[in-house]
Amino acid sequence: MRILIINGPNLNMLGKRDPGQYGSLTLGAIEDLLRAKAGSLSVGHEAIELVFFQSNHEGALIDFIQAQSPHAHGILINPGALTHYSYALRDALIDAGLPLVEVHLSDIEHREPFRKISVIADIAAERVMGMKEKSYIEGLERLVKYLKV
Ligand code: DQA
Repeated sequence: MRILIINGPNLNMLGKRDPGQYGSLTLGAIEDLLRAKAGSLSVGHEAIELVFFQSNHEGALIDFIQAQSPHAHGILINPGALTHYSYALRDALIDAGLPLVEVHLSDIEHREPFRKISVIADIAAERVMGMKEKSYIEGLERLVKYLKV
């Protein structure tokens, strides 16, 4: 089972961003946690392969989704600020036709009003937010559970 782990703008700066909202781990450290989690979820089941991608560019994210989604089974995505306004990213995710889990490190429902809006919320099978790096771990667990049902 292959899962795409996609991160949008500014998430390459984790570790230097506001730790109160985003925690103190780098994106690389979060990816290591996800690899370890995927290994534990694989035990006794089909192996789970994670494919990681981060970009600060909307078009690069869309190109990656178009190229990789035919070879994948699910998507875990933190679109960063694109969450709040990118209909192009939303369309690419719809066209991918894969089960989708939306994750956020911070609790976007309880920050500035513009962050309450997610243009991908209604196409996500699950949403996880507000648990810093644990949002990704919980999101991966939920996606794998969803894919195995
Ligand atoms: C974020 C929340 C977004 O509002 C913000 O623009 C980000 C990160 C989060 O993980 O909490 O860059 O998606």
